[in-house]
Amino acid sequence: MITIKTDAQIERMRDSGKITKETLDFIGSQIRAGMSTKELDSLAYDFIRSCGAEPSFLGYSGYPASICASIDDMVVHGIPSDNEIIREGQIVSIDVGVIYNGWQGDAARTFCIGEVSPLKKKLVEVTEQCFFKAIENLRDGSPIGDIGFSVQSHAESNGFSVVRALTGHGIGREMHEDPSVPNYGRRGTGIRLKKGMAIAIEPMINAGTFKVDFMSDGWGVRTKDRQPSAHYENTVVITDDGVEILTL
Ligand code: MF3
Ligand code: CO
Repeated sequence: MITIKTDAQIERMRDSGKITKETLDFIGSQIRAGMSTKELDSLAYDFIRSCGAEPSFLGYSGYPASICASIDDMVVHGIPSDNEIIREGQIVSIDVGVIYNGWQGDAARTFCIGEVSPLKKKLVEVTEQCFFKAIENLRDGSPIGDIGFSVQSHAESNGFSVVRALTGHGIGREMHEDPSVPNYGRRGTGIRLKKGMAIAIEPMINAGTFKVDFMSDGWGVRTKDRQPSAHYENTVVITDDGVEILTL
């Protein structure tokens, strides 16, 4: 079921979105070579709690951490670990979700650690651009397929591929609500977005094949060819004449 948020509810989602964004900004200011992904997770946990919010990922279907930290060929859902040390030249996708006053925020960024290869740098830039292409003409009445079309066109015209096994999603009181928001598809297809719908748009873009492997920890998702992958996500709400980004 797709829920439409009232103005008062959107006001509350602005608060959770802001905390989500600030957590990512904080992580971005702290992340560096030599740290473990578990250290980043602890920083995120403390930051979210200091805002009076809760990390929505922690305990979600048994997920054991407050962030996902996905390095290089890890697409998403990398579980932070004491044994995983961040290195110069890597790209690290950090995904974080918070609950504040009962409302959810969900966002992700991919950080470059020091000097990264030209391919990785372009992949990170194009992935971010995919999100902005997706929202360019999005408004009340837009078919949801326009999102996937925009993301896929931009990724593939740059020689990259779009992960199909995972999608964006509606968001509100729950982290994952209807509708599913694919990053591939055809213009003009699918349900029409309405003013007051809140969705997480999250392109996951691979340098090589779109195919992925699921790790035996039950969470991690890697590219099948072990080439790098990037992730960029914001929570947005549909308005009469566009979208409002709640996590930027
Ligand atoms: N933010 C992810 C998403 O957009 C969810 C992470 S899964 C979790 O779907 F279990 F870690 F929460
Ligand atoms: Co999400």
